[in-house]
Order: sequence, then structure tokens, then C-alpha cells
Amino acid sequence: MRVVDIILKKRYGGTLTKEEIHEVIDGYVKGNVPDYQVSALLMAICFQGLNDEEKVNLTMEMLHSGEQVDLSSIDGICVDKHSTGGVGDKTSLAIGPILAACGLKIAKMSGRGLGHTGGTLDKLESIPGCSINVSSEDFFKQVKEVGVAIIGQTKNITPADKKLYALRDVTGTVDSIGLIASSIMSKKLASGAHFILIDVKVGDGAFMKDEDQARQLSKTMVKIGNSLGRKTVCVLTNMNEPLGNAVGNSLEVIEAIETLKGRGPKDFTNLVYDLCSKLLLMTGVCKADKDARILIKEKIENGEALEKLRQMIKYQGGNPDVVDDYSLFKKAKEVVPVLSEKAGYIKFEEALQIGVGAMMLGAGRENKEDDVDHSVGIVMNKKVGDYVKKGEPLAYLHTNGKGTKEAYDKVLNAFEIVDEVVEENKLILGVIE
Ligand code: URA
Repeated sequence: MRVVDIILKKRYGGTLTKEEIHEVIDGYVKGNVPDYQVSALLMAICFQGLNDEEKVNLTMEMLHSGEQVDLSSIDGICVDKHSTGGVGDKTSLAIGPILAACGLKIAKMSGRGLGHTGGTLDKLESIPGCSINVSSEDFFKQVKEVGVAIIGQTKNITPADKKLYALRDVTGTVDSIGLIASSIMSKKLASGAHFILIDVKVGDGAFMKDEDQARQLSKTMVKIGNSLGRKTVCVLTNMNEPLGNAVGNSLEVIEAIETLKGRGPKDFTNLVYDLCSKLLLMTGVCKADKDARILIKEKIENGEALEKLRQMIKYQGGNPDVVDDYSLFKKAKEVVPVLSEKAGYIKFEEALQIGVGAMMLGAGRENKEDDVDHSVGIVMNKKVGDYVKKGEPLAYLHTNGKGTKEAYDKVLNAFEIVDEVVEENKLILGVIE
């Protein structure tokens, strides 16, 4: 089978067989098929698309390119929640402990942030001493005893995706529903959970800007997950403004802790309740949304969810006292208010620009090798629908000096202020089951 014939077949709209997909992907991982041929095939896929069978076959090929996590030794229901990436998205840090307090098991392998989107691992590392490099043995022990562990990848999971994603990034071929769906789902399937909830971010700060496309992507992922025996649900959520108020590593951890104390920002708290409720219903722990919400509230109010976070931090070598004493986090040297130049209602906060502003301060990395400054970031003082007076702070920059001026301008320009009253953003745009 010649790779060039496979490329030509897709170029002219043909359907690739399982064997043809194997030939290219396996050959690529082993170094037998060069970048330029895979690039050409990826571009042909972007133009011609993949049908459902091709998407499943590609997902399976990527899944089997590496190791898979076997969670069968863990008693209880193992669930995974994944976000396609946004600004201020600290959801896993709140959801994990709440679900563990509700009796579910969360064995989660997360990623680092790149560009304007943050990563859960960087947030966890802002907790003094907290490690995300945990051995497989300790990872399983923690999930069994605490119910929740969030760590970096312990195994060689989906190497095909790692190679393909890097190539897609530089060949203009990220933006294809079939390629994105198989990339995300192969990783989720390899992580072993039987119930998968995917938070598909839509809007300015997400990689899916368009709701119809996000809906199509969600349908594809649900179909792939369910066809391979994993109950999968996608929730489409608004990413036109940052989630919650805090953007930046330790600032976001503090906001997640506050949420576990029942004092989180309204939009973030609502999303945490919505996603937890979905997983409690999917797994059959609760029979109705109303019951799920009562259970979540109880676990927050009686402190059990917060206790799970304390235990998780302690197991991962961190100082659990941070939960009660925020001064233990590294603080930025200066807090600079971004002042509104006019009065009016906030119509739009460009989440992307806020994410880029936080990155300029050092909270994120432009290149994989960059270090992040855990103490810096942005705290929103006004959200969509709020009224702001001239000279009032729109947001606060927590800065150590790097990029302050550029970040100030970015954040100021991210706000559109109008005279007429504006409604709050709708957070949940749809659920694909
Ligand atoms: N996230 C992934 O893991 N893969 C993609 O292709 C896009 C976003």
C-alpha cells in the first residue's frame, strides 16, 4: 500500500479503510512515513472530512499507539471530566473534590497550559510543594483512599496524537472536526474512565468560536465515546468572557477553594453545579437534577468537598494549610487596577485578550519550554452586564513587573462598554448526550 495512494484517495473524497489509516498512523509513529506525507493527508482530511467509521478507526488507531490506563483495580465508578480549554477555567479543581465527596472516583491526568488557555497542572503547582509527577502506584493508592487525584501523564499515552498534534499546529490543520474529535477522544479513552464529561468551550476565548461547529464536534465525540462503550456527554459552555473572576494560577486555585467554601463567583459556581450534576446523573448516583444539586450543596456546606481537596493536596506532597491560609501562596509584588475610561454597561469581555494579557504578565507560556510565574494574573472586577463608572476598576493586574503596560492595554481594550443595559451571558449553550 503506497502512502501517496492513500493521500490521493482522500484528496478525491474517498473513504479510508481501517488498514489504510493504520498504514499511515503506525508508520508515522514509527518514523517510516515522513511529515510531508502526513501533512498532505491531514490537509486532504480538512477539505474532505472523515465519515463516522473513519473517525472511530482513527481514534482507535491513536488509542492503540500507546499504553492505556487500567482502572479496574479501583472499586467504585471512575469518571473523567475534560475541558477543551478556556480562560479562567479552574473547574477540575472544584469538581474533583466535590465528586469525590459524593462517592465517585476521579483519576485524572491533566495537561499544562499553552498560549492564552491555562492548564490544571500549572495551577496545582502553584500550591507550595504540590507535585503532579506521581508514580502509577501512588496515583492508584490516592484514588482508592481519597477518591481524587489530578496528575500529569504517567504513561506513554497516545504518542500518535502527540506527534500529529504538533504537526497540525504548524500546518494549519488543527481546525477539523474529525481530527479534533479523534485527538481528544483517543486521550480520554486511554485514561480509562467509563464515564466521560466534556466541557466544550465556545466563543472568543475557545478554539471553537462557532456554536454550530462546537455542536457538531460534540455530537462526533459523543458518538465515538458511546460506540466504544464509554458513556460520553458534552456540555457546550460560553467562553466569550473568562470563567469566574480569576485568571492566573494561584489566583485561580484560591477562587476554586473559595467556591468549595460556598463563596465562589456566580458563573463559576453555577458551572460547577451543572457539571457535577451531569456526572451524578450519568453515573446513576442521583436520579434527578434536583437531588444532585441538593447533594452537591450538602457536600460543600458540610466541608466534605473542601476536606477532599486538603487530602488531595497532602497526598501530592503539597501544604494543605493553603486551604485556610492564602498567604502561603506566592504573591505578586504589585496589584494594578485597570481603570475604565467611560461609564456604561459591560457588553463584551474578549476572553482571548484577557487570556493573552495574563500570559504577558507571565501566567502562561507562549512556547512549551517557557516557565510560568504562578503568582501573577488578572482578577476581573466587572463582568458582562455589570455597570461601571468612569475611573472605576474593570480588572486588577497582579504583576511582578513583566509585561504590565502591554497587559494593561490588552485588558482595557478587551472591554466593550455601551449605554444600554446588557444581559448577563448565558453560560450553558447546550448539552449533547
Ligand atoms: N485539544 C486536543 O486535545 N486536540 C485537538 O485536536 C484540539 C484540542
